[in-house]
Amino acid sequence: MKLLVVGGAGYIGSHTARQLRRAGHEAVVFDNLSSGHAQAVPDGVTLVRGDLLNPADIRAALDAHQPDAVIHFAALIEVGESMRAPGRYYRNNVTGSLNLLQAIVDTRKIPLVFSSTAAVYGTTDAVPIPEDAAMQPESVYGETKLMTERMIHAFHVAHGLPYTILRYFNVCGAAPEGDIGEAHPNKTHLIELACLTALGQREKMMVFGTDYPTPDGSCIRDYVHVQDLADAHVLAVEALHAAHARGEAGQATYNVGLGHGFSVLEVLDAVDRVTGTPLHREVAPRRAGDPPRLVADATRIVRDLGFTPQFTDLDEIVRTAWNWHRTHPDGFRR
Ligand code: UFG
Repeated sequence: MKLLVVGGAGYIGSHTARQLRRAGHEAVVFDNLSSGHAQAVPDGVTLVRGDLLNPADIRAALDAHQPDAVIHFAALIEVGESMRAPGRYYRNNVTGSLNLLQAIVDTRKIPLVFSSTAAVYGTTDAVPIPEDAAMQPESVYGETKLMTERMIHAFHVAHGLPYTILRYFNVCGAAPEGDIGEAHPNKTHLIELACLTALGQREKMMVFGTDYPTPDGSCIRDYVHVQDLADAHVLAVEALHAAHARGEAGQATYNVGLGHGFSVLEVLDAVDRVTGTPLHREVAPRRAGDPPRLVADATRIVRDLGFTPQFTDLDEIVRTAWNWHRTHPDGFRR
């Protein structure tokens, strides 16, 4: 299969492009490099520099490369920033996705796999969270992902667009080879920050709240390894493409997580063990918008796609992140 990977120079997109190649597929990355890195694009994968906000760019890429399916990662992803700059988020994430959808149905009507997020659920009492839980995003970021999910469904109903939506929980870790990993311009993710603190780039780790109704008082999250998540995309696009070839409508939504969680304090303990340096920790007030417990009900993706995560041990997950940060303390910058 030939895949167009939109946003494929980013953290999750680059790991997915690599796993697609390993599964024997051809990949072309389309990315505006606003937060992605050309160095993250695997060998043997063409990088097309283009912007979804310019419809001619994506139409030209579809025409030139004639892919069999599209995987769409391109988005701004920071919850806090989305509250301060909603216009940027709606324009980039919603209008950008709309341009992609329109280009797909106008030109090739090929299947689409879309990167969504557990942030579409917001705070919910249903934990582990099933895919049919109520969706009440608490941030503009989550809202833009939910709006895009709804646009995709409308294009499916009106134009027969086959789709699979993957809602990620807390993506973390790095390729075990240590050559690609997380390198966001603004760092907010727990494991990345803890590794950079262990490298001495920051003075201490703030623990945002130890008064939550959880066993140790800190928030619980479902940490899914980026390479397992990349493999989930390979399974999803293969299944969707096969269903499309059989003439089936193709429409599915899956949570992607391990189905169990770790607390902030458990994660920091793991980082201490892996790095061998106990981090200086400081308890800080709760961070706005953090639900106490976000854990996926992942039974649907296991049942339908045979998703089998390889990275289930917290220390092993952290070790891959540490290996990347230790050898690339400035990310992709020299
Ligand atoms: N945390 C700290 N200190 C820090 C950073 C984070 O205590 O310095 C805590 C947070 O308060 C939270 C947990 O660590 O309880 C995880 O925080 P992250 O920022 O790593 O991740 P989030 O859970 O906020 O969000 C991530 C993605 C979202 C996605 C969500 C789904 O960034 O896009 O997971 O579970 F929606």
